[in-house]
Amino acid sequence: MLSPRKTPFEYIKQSVENEGYLPTELIARLPKHWRRIGTVGIIELHTSLWPWKEKIGQNYLSGISELSTIMQKVGVTTTTIRTPGYEVLAGNPDTVTLHKELGCKFWIDALRLTFSTGNHAERQRLIKITTEGEQIIDMFACVGNLSVPISVHHPTVEVKGVEINSYAYSFLEKNIQVNHLKERYQPIFGDNQTHTPINWADRVLMGYFELTPRQLEVALQALKQDQGGIVHTHGLTTARQPFNWRQTIEKLILEKFPYFQLKDTKQRVIKSIAPGVHHFVDDIHIIRKN
Ligand SMILES: C[S@@+](CC[C@H](N)C(=O)[O-])C[C@H]1O[C@@H](n2cnc3c(N)ncnc32)[C@H](O)[C@@H]1O
Repeated sequence: MLSPRKTPFEYIKQSVENEGYLPTELIARLPKHWRRIGTVGIIELHTSLWPWKEKIGQNYLSGISELSTIMQKVGVTTTTIRTPGYEVLAGNPDTVTLHKELGCKFWIDALRLTFSTGNHAERQRLIKITTEGEQIIDMFACVGNLSVPISVHHPTVEVKGVEINSYAYSFLEKNIQVNHLKERYQPIFGDNQTHTPINWADRVLMGYFELTPRQLEVALQALKQDQGGIVHTHGLTTARQPFNWRQTIEKLILEKFPYFQLKDTKQRVIKSIAPGVHHFVDDIHIIRKN
């Protein structure tokens, strides 16, 4: 009888064992899962495995046929432009890749720019809740992570995406082109505090963890002033320190937008970032007072 085909992980484990470089007691620590952006695979290695990280990377590369590079997570995403904490372990050092998701094409440098595979459900949800004809501003566009899928799936929606990092912006321009969105998606290069269009949007996306009071004010200015709309604010929350943006927005409306009123807010968790720490999004629905 033929033996059943090995899964990629079984193959990887078997090759590590065969090569014999890793102490047997550490075999159980090999990661069974990995994330994938285009042809770049991302693994998280326990620090006890780090002395053999390049060899392990090579085994993952050989075991997962569709990948050309293996990176590992070595730190947290840092800086305003959100540089992810990755290093290349094996394979092609050129980490520019084409990622396909939800019927969209995303060109991205997986080593240097953020594309969270954990935000997949949020990308799907945004497609679902957007209605035809909406005007949307993405204040933290990156390569179009959240707003390109909306645009691809809603042929009458118009988007303006603001991005401060010239490298990310170059990919945003490319993604607008390869997804045939040129007529409906306007990329804007610059700081969203000064470059966000005002009085235009039905919906504003704020996919960023460290929002400033100025950016929240700009988001409310960006909404159609005679109607209001929905602002999606992101953030981090823990069970011990629950947080949402409701109070901040209420205060802002009171002080600077007296003609607006908060209709309702809904919070949902997007993903777990660390034990007990969650990435959330608040849907903040603002309407014009009668
Ligand atoms: C963490 S990425 C998030 C991408 C996407 N919004 C998402 O949620 O998946 C944040 C992006 O916002 C950009 N950014 C940060 N501060 C900005 C600012 N003041 N104006 C415009 N873009 C900014 C960064 O360069 C980065 O590309």
